[in-house]
Amino acid sequence: MISEDLDIKITTVAKSKLDAAEEIELQFGKTFTDHMFVADYENGEWTNLEIKPFQNIEMSPATSFIHYGQSIFEGLKAHATDEGDILIFRPQANAARLNASARRLCMAELPEAIFINSIKSLVDLDRKWMPKGESSSLYIRPFMFGTEEFLGVKPSGRYRFMVILSPSGAYYSKPVRVKIETKYSRAMEGGVGSAKTSGNYAASLLPAREGFKAGYDQLLWTDANTHTRIEESGTMNAMFILNGKLITPKTSTSILSGITRDSILTIARDWGYDVEERDVMVSELKAGLEKGILTEAFGVGTAATIAHISEIGIDGEDYILPSVKDREFSNKMANFLNNLKRGREEDPNHWLFKV
Ligand code: COI
Repeated sequence: MISEDLDIKITTVAKSKLDAAEEIELQFGKTFTDHMFVADYENGEWTNLEIKPFQNIEMSPATSFIHYGQSIFEGLKAHATDEGDILIFRPQANAARLNASARRLCMAELPEAIFINSIKSLVDLDRKWMPKGESSSLYIRPFMFGTEEFLGVKPSGRYRFMVILSPSGAYYSKPVRVKIETKYSRAMEGGVGSAKTSGNYAASLLPAREGFKAGYDQLLWTDANTHTRIEESGTMNAMFILNGKLITPKTSTSILSGITRDSILTIARDWGYDVEERDVMVSELKAGLEKGILTEAFGVGTAATIAHISEIGIDGEDYILPSVKDREFSNKMANFLNNLKRGREEDPNHWLFKV
């Protein structure tokens, strides 16, 4: 069978895993649908576009990305509408960001048409895996890695692009306690912090574990030079309502340019909120918490959507934020975004892509 839009070879499973499952496990990223998409970059072009049953991949122990980390990924979500259609949120933005990451990691770029059509065909084929419920969605994980077999340090000459799908519930089940990290760094200016590459996440694990042992769910990273400016949070960008204004760190080479971040800033500006993308100083957050004018803090990301921050640890002192039910902006935005993604709001920016 060939997909209508691109030459994608499709081989389907003989029997869906869903038929055997009593209930889908909705913990984030634990369950995978029946199929996956695979394409290879060889001799300067993308070939062998294929959807096939979800299965293990075999590779040589000398495969380059295992050693030198040419590995990038994206995260996006599909939601069901009340009528049973499926809408994917801003896939073009993810296609563009994947290629920005590819350029930084010296990897092959992927044509937008392959990115979009592979996802569309895969989601369509596995559409019955869409979970029910307002906080559930079909999480889409596209990723690419260097596949040439060699041990010299140079860009791989071959790449593989894949997409897998995972029916998922909320990433954080409750508001998070975060610690402002001033010992370790996630990224530095001129580094790869703005690329969605695996090494950035590996670098975050030990500091996050130390934070976890100290009672925090996540970290708020600061700049590597001075540890005085907020950068982003573990799996999300960070936003604050300070003195009635929405403030967020401006993007840089050390901060991931989040698509949820961009969506929220666009909508907030449309709503007439005062929005500032700028340096956000640890000292002003501390002062804001002491004076009671830092009224909301939240992480924003595809997986996390809007994750309320209940407490911020600064230099060994914990500051408690106002109760979640009193947070006008982030509650209104979370509700609006959820409705938008499910087709219940106008879509003036053409962010929704129907499958
Ligand atoms: C996403 O929000 O899609 C992400 O990629 C974060 C992830 C590492 C859980």
